[in-house]
Amino acid sequence: MAVRLSDPWLEELRMRSSLEEIVSEYVPLKQKGRRYWGCCPFHNEKTPSFSVDTEAQLFYCFGCHKGGTVIQFVMDIEHMPFMEAVEFLAERAHMEMPKDSGARNSALRAEERERLYEANRFAARYFHRLLWQEEGADALKYFYGRGLNDSDIRRFGLGASPKDWTGLTNALKAEGYTEGDITRIDLAVAREGRVSDRFHDRAMFPIIDAKGHVLGFGARTMGGGEPKYLNTADTPVFNKRHNLYGLNWAKAERAIGHLVLVEGYMDTLSLRKAGVQGVVATLGTALTPEQARLMRRFTGEVWISYDGDPPGQKAALRALSILDEADIATKVIDYPKGMDPDDFIRANGRAGFDALPKYPGTDYRLLRAKDGLDLDTQAGMTAYATAACDILRGVRSPIELENYLRRLVNETGYDKDVLMRQINAGALQPARNAQPRRIAPQKQVEPVSANESALLTMLSLGRIPATLLAEDDFTEGDAREWARALIDGESPARLLEGIGDEGRRARAMQALNYEPIPEDREGALHMAEDCIAALRHERMEARARQIESEIARAEGAEKRELYAQLEQIYQAMDA
Ligand code: UTP
Ligand code: MN
Repeated sequence: MAVRLSDPWLEELRMRSSLEEIVSEYVPLKQKGRRYWGCCPFHNEKTPSFSVDTEAQLFYCFGCHKGGTVIQFVMDIEHMPFMEAVEFLAERAHMEMPKDSGARNSALRAEERERLYEANRFAARYFHRLLWQEEGADALKYFYGRGLNDSDIRRFGLGASPKDWTGLTNALKAEGYTEGDITRIDLAVAREGRVSDRFHDRAMFPIIDAKGHVLGFGARTMGGGEPKYLNTADTPVFNKRHNLYGLNWAKAERAIGHLVLVEGYMDTLSLRKAGVQGVVATLGTALTPEQARLMRRFTGEVWISYDGDPPGQKAALRALSILDEADIATKVIDYPKGMDPDDFIRANGRAGFDALPKYPGTDYRLLRAKDGLDLDTQAGMTAYATAACDILRGVRSPIELENYLRRLVNETGYDKDVLMRQINAGALQPARNAQPRRIAPQKQVEPVSANESALLTMLSLGRIPATLLAEDDFTEGDAREWARALIDGESPARLLEGIGDEGRRARAMQALNYEPIPEDREGALHMAEDCIAALRHERMEARARQIESEIARAEGAEKRELYAQLEQIYQAMDA
């Protein structure tokens, strides 16, 4: 369980993190008195209304009214939760995260991590140097054969691993690294008491994170050896599910407004060589939620650019769901059959890439739903319409939904009402892990929130024990009152009878009829926990909004105190 960061520790972190210095990495600033001015990174503007008050160490935009401490700035600009922003700043300030802070990397001390990055950097240089020597001649030829020239090879830091089995290990030992260090970062492996290089006679791709740390390597066989790519295993400084290839270059290209997500090392490099910006690749696994969140820090839109074969298309659909979850807008590039981005751009160039259709996520799902169906038959059309309705159920915007429905009417010939009924019918089936949905109430009543309604319903059905809940788990006035009554053992019927006003009774009816409720006790308990947590989160968020409005009126020390309170809330929300 995470321990709260102490106030003095946070204060020191804020003090050691120069706000103007950090802000100016994102925004050019000009000094005027105690304030620095620049164009606000959080909204579009041409004349600077974004300011950094160097004395108070607070930023504030007179245009969009965003403001706060250095921690807030990092949270906003990097889209990081509180704890990650703190870690980010702590690393810069060379402060160690307090023990038990629950920080991601706290298992490894900062300077120890730095040392392992250094060993990886040394290895990258070693592999790169080898490329220009006799021993690396095959790898050099291999890269040439894939369309890269010397300057590309330098720019991408490519390399060759030695043809003997101890070249790198010996070089690292001569630098003072122990066999333990070297095996820990998977540059060597111990077999039968002997330590030998992990990478042998392969073309080497260093994996570098956004901060410039060398995390590990991808290593391609140059012949037909297996596996085609050998990757650094997960180490204390590398997790292939949490990192992306190419982010070190893409980081500087935020201005293009999106990232291009590919599957392979060579896809990344070929697109990049052709001048496509923002390209990043997963590292030999399917896209993970962690990688999606990582991308969210850099952009709000991702173009999925996977191979144009059935496995690539399947992977694209999975990636779409993960990016949706992370609240990232998506487009999907549909490559011609059997081509990957590398093949395609080498055959068709940048202009060909620019001309490829880029489908919005829903359009791409609809396109894929047609695969393998014969739309000239009734059965095929039925299957397509059904699948399309399943897809459209996920469209949130009513206007967008209307547009898609019109298209589907044209395509399938089904009546719009029929399609709409099909969409709604599916919505009532309880799906595993699906967000609970509600049946719309008949009367026009201002409904109690979904979370509160779900809890009240389960409580009234006896699906969860009253002891699990307290009045304070509820936020809204009516919900609190009804919860108290039910917790005190009043029956739902008596509760409803006791409400004289018709409108209010309708509201209570609605609140006590949430759908769907899990049938089993365990499922209900899970759902209740989720609801309680969500309500708690909402209350903290509301409290944060309130403090923000107080901040707008406050000055000086009081303002700083309020910011500190705000960060406490962020921290609690994160825990
Ligand atoms: P692909 O098999 O699609 O190959 O792997 P590719 O990228 O087109 O490779 P080239 O063009 O033949 O060099 C896509 C990605 O999956 C991971 C690698 O990250 C690779 O870039 N992969 C693939 C592995 O990790 N191991 C493998 O054996 C194969
Ligand atoms: Mn390829």
